[in-house]
This record gives sequence, C-alpha cells and structure tokens, in this order.
Amino acid sequence: MTQPSTPSAIRGRLLIFLAPPAGAGDSASYRYIADGLVTIRDGRIAAVGEARDLLGALPADTRVDHHPDGLIVPGFIDPHIHFPQTQVIASYGAQLLEWLQKYTFVEEQRFADPHHAAEQARFFFDELLRNGTTTATAFCSVHPASVDAFFAESERRGMAMIAGKVMMDRNAPPALTDTAETGYEDTKALLAKWHRRGRQRYAITPRFAITSTEAQLEATAALAREFPDNHIQTHLSENLAEIETVRSLFPSARGYLDVYDRYGLLGPRTLLGHSIHLTDGERRRMAETGSVAVFCPTSNLFLGSGLFNLDGLIRQTPAGRIALATDVGGGTSFSMLRTAGEAYKVLQLNGRSFSALEAFHQMTAGNAAALGLADEVGTLAPGRYADLVVLDARATPAMANRMQRIDGDLEEELFLLMTLGDDRAVRATYVQGRLAHARDGVAGAA
Ligand code: GUN
Ligand code: ZN
Repeated sequence: MTQPSTPSAIRGRLLIFLAPPAGAGDSASYRYIADGLVTIRDGRIAAVGEARDLLGALPADTRVDHHPDGLIVPGFIDPHIHFPQTQVIASYGAQLLEWLQKYTFVEEQRFADPHHAAEQARFFFDELLRNGTTTATAFCSVHPASVDAFFAESERRGMAMIAGKVMMDRNAPPALTDTAETGYEDTKALLAKWHRRGRQRYAITPRFAITSTEAQLEATAALAREFPDNHIQTHLSENLAEIETVRSLFPSARGYLDVYDRYGLLGPRTLLGHSIHLTDGERRRMAETGSVAVFCPTSNLFLGSGLFNLDGLIRQTPAGRIALATDVGGGTSFSMLRTAGEAYKVLQLNGRSFSALEAFHQMTAGNAAALGLADEVGTLAPGRYADLVVLDARATPAMANRMQRIDGDLEEELFLLMTLGDDRAVRATYVQGRLAHARDGVAGAA
C-alpha cells in the first residue's frame, strides 16, 4: 500500500446493478458506464455517473484516481469465512468430520495466544483486500481474544465486518471447548464491546449442532431472544456423516434444521453455511423463516461434501435469502472470483448455469441483501460506503489473450473474470474511499 490518502473521485468503467438479474442477457438489470466517475465524501459515495458530467463540478485540485480500462464494482462480500483457518487451507485427504479433528481443531488451538491471533488478523485482512473483499462474516475461534484481534484489525482498516466467537462445548479437544455458561457470558461481553462499534457487528456463533450440547443451545436461544438485532451464524447439512451424527445426538429432532428451529435460531438474520443435503420440508421451513442458505462451492468440492441445489432453494426461497461464500479454510481460495467460477461448475453438475450477471450481482448486492446490509454496501449508489474494487480482465497472459476475442462484450468479460480471475485481477481495493490495496503499487493515473 503506497498511497494511503483518499481521492475525491475514482474514474473508470462502472457496473451498476439496478435489480437482481434474471439470467444471462438481462440488460435491464444493470447500467454500464464506459467512462464513469464515483465521487466520494466522508467515506461514502456522493455521486455516480458519466465522468464528463461530474468532473466539471469537482474543485480543480481534487485527486481523481483514474483506472482507464479498469472495471469498478462494489467491494466483494464474503458471508462465510473462518478467520482461524488461513493456515488450514490445502490440508490433504479428509472429509468434514475427520478434517475438523485432524487439522482444524489443532490449528484453532493456536488462537489462544493473542499474539498469534493479532498476527493472523493482519494477514487475514491483507488477504481479503488483495482479493477485493471489503466485507465478510467470519467465524473466530472459541477464544474471546481471537474476536478482539479480529475486530481491532477490521476497525483499524475501517471495514464493515460481522463476526463472533464460536460456541462449542462438546466433541472437540478440551482446549477448544467452552461451557454453556462461559459461551453465553463471553458472547454477551464481546457483543457489548463490539456490536455496532463503528462498522463492526457481532454474530452469535454456535459452531454447529455436533459441537453444542442441549444446554448450550438453550443458552444460544437466550442470546437470540435478548439480542434480536444480531446475526446468528452456524453450519447446516454439509456432509452425510455429519447429518447422521446430528440424528444420533438429537434423536427427538425431526431433522438437522429442526435442531436449530426448536431453539428459535432461525430467521432473516440467520446464516446457514452449506445447506446442501436438505429435505423439501427443510427448504420450506428456511423459506418461511427467511433464513439464509450460504453456498460455499470451493469448500463443498474440496471436502467432497456435495452439490448445492440452487434450483431447489430458488423455487421456494424468497429473494435475497441465498448467499455465496468462500468458507476458507475448508474453502480453497480467498477470491470471490474463484468462488463464483467454482459455483458455476457445481451448478453445471446440477444441470444449471450461473450467468456472470447473476454471479457479480450475488458477490455484491446479493450478498449485501442476504446480510441485511443493502443500505450500506454492495451497490454503486449515492449514500453507500465507497467500498470499491477495480478489476483487470487482462491480468494474466491467458486472460489478456482471451480478451482479444471478447473486447467490448461486458458479460463475456465478467465471465472471463470469474472463470480465470483471482487476486491478480484485483488492481485496487478502496475502503470508505481510501486506497487499501494497490496491486501495482499505485492508485491510477491522476
Ligand atoms: N462445520 C463445523 N465447523 C466447520 C468448519 O470449520 N468448516 C466447515 N466447512 N464446516 C464446519
Ligand atoms: Zn464454515
């Protein structure tokens, strides 16, 4: 990061979504401006439009970051990621339950050390920004200090984050378990400290049904009742062995979703990671409660968990109740571009496509809506935070070579970005209008 100062405007090609795209070719869902300008005031977008219309109104000495062929879109939003798992990525050869015991629960114990947590937090946020992600919903470790490290770093960078300490009081190593009481008390204290402090929000975070006793789920239910403003994040129906284990631990529940339902944990602020192996009844219940299904394709492929059934959910789910996320470190990439590219492949295996318009909308406005943050982020519109990313569809030789054949076709360019793009395609990332990552060390010609 070489130029931490804040420009008053950013110039380039703008993609502005007006509505959720119905599919490929839905040109009414967006506006494209070939030479556009986003002006910034107090960290928010002041105006969006044609550069020729807006430039004249700027004071003469204004700094304008100009990215002549850069494509400017809202910063990406990652609604399911594990902060303590950046050193778990690429752990070989296991499916979910073995992977948790063999790799993840070992690594997460290191977050008892606040110095380790602080160092990993710096890496984590650098990596998000290099990948163009400006907002995320994260699981921290069981240790309250991991939450402090996480939010201290995101606050320092002015980023909008949602996160919480995992509550887990069984089926994990003793060094990684809390109790129903300490999970409740620690959550309450962290929530009081961080929730709505600046751009930070606290998420009540029971890890998943397998690692919480009935007593802990009771305590979680109490938190949900006391703090209805807070998100709840957990995992649901990711892996068949996991579902069998839930069945044996909760024999009186009607199914996996019902474990959460009977404790009052479903609702529009509830984020259910994976949601792969669902019954029709479960999909109906998720729709009734407005709960969000979070699709994590790179993780689902890497852990061999299964193929997310988007069509099954779309048929029953109200708009804005599906999200797309990395799930690092079961997921294999911090890049939302890579994540969208793998989502396309998973959906192809389910006999469905995923158009570039749908993908780019989902990574930005769609995920913002799923998180209830649509008024703040996810769209290039006045009043929203100026959290932006500048993309480069010619970032690698193979991309540049392919671009020679698709010059001028926006949807093809977007599809190239999600199929071949990754952190190398992120030229710059802005947080509240401030340059937070510059791939080439400069912000763009003035
Ligand atoms: N289920 C419970 N914990 C986890 C986790 O850390 N990663 C994934 N992918 N699934 C989980
Ligand atoms: Zn997860």
